[in-house]
Amino acid sequence: MGFSRLTICLILFTNLTVHGTLIYTEVENLHKALTNTSKDIKPRINQTDQINIDVLLSVNAIQDYDEISGTLTFTASFLFFWNDEFKTWDNNKYGGITATKLPVLKTWMPVLFLRNGVYSNSIFTYTNNMEIETSAVTYSADGNASFLMVGMYHVSCKSDVTSYPFDEHKCVISLLTLDMLTEITLTSTFGIYIGAASPHAE
Ligand SMILES: *[C@@H]1O[C@H](CO)[C@@H](O)[C@H](O)[C@H]1NC(C)=O
Ligand SMILES: *[C@@H]1O[C@H](CO)[C@@H](O)[C@H](O)[C@H]1NC(C)=O
Ligand SMILES: *[C@@H]1O[C@H](CO)[C@@H](O)[C@H](O)[C@H]1NC(C)=O
Repeated sequence: MGFSRLTICLILFTNLTVHGTLIYTEVENLHKALTNTSKDIKPRINQTDQINIDVLLSVNAIQDYDEISGTLTFTASFLFFWNDEFKTWDNNKYGGITATKLPVLKTWMPVLFLRNGVYSNSIFTYTNNMEIETSAVTYSADGNASFLMVGMYHVSCKSDVTSYPFDEHKCVISLLTLDMLTEITLTSTFGIYIGAASPHAE
């Protein structure tokens, strides 16, 4: 008879705190003003200006690595940062609101793909409409936008099994933009964060 104990914790991540009072109509007015531009046009006043997307990848757990096919399966969070020149406001005019969220379907979003994705090249891992409808981009008053996508991803890595089992694998997670016209550049200032990952046995 063994003694084992399973502890399940619930961790709650709460969001931005709002100081003072915030009136519904102030938020509504701000949202009206921020969604008063086309979401289909690159958010640059001068359309020849580039837009840079900064990517932070946080790997939460490595689920599997298939030596033969070279497929790495992991759960991760992708955080994307960019600046939207039309999503700026004077917070004194809107009751001191310094940050707000807009639904992804109502605002400009970068088009990015996983170049070496295995079953899908999409970085969007939504499984139902409700997840899409409730997904949002967070903006601060200077137009800085951030968007978080969490999910399970499968990428193809080149595998060299000649020295198995004492081999080492390098895996590249490659992102690309297929938006040829909008001059999107990609950077990764913070790179990859290997988070509270339960180290995979392999
Ligand atoms: C939206 O933009 C148009 C054209 O610039 C302007 O006339 C209208 O007042 C704006 N509406 C709001 C709610 O800001
Ligand atoms: C837009 O930006 C380009 C490149 O930075 C510049 O050559 C051009 O003069 C700008 N156009 C306007 C209308 O400011
Ligand atoms: C917006 O982004 C710029 C460039 O990354 C940064 O310097 C600035 O501090 C950001 N603003 C806020 C409010 O975080």
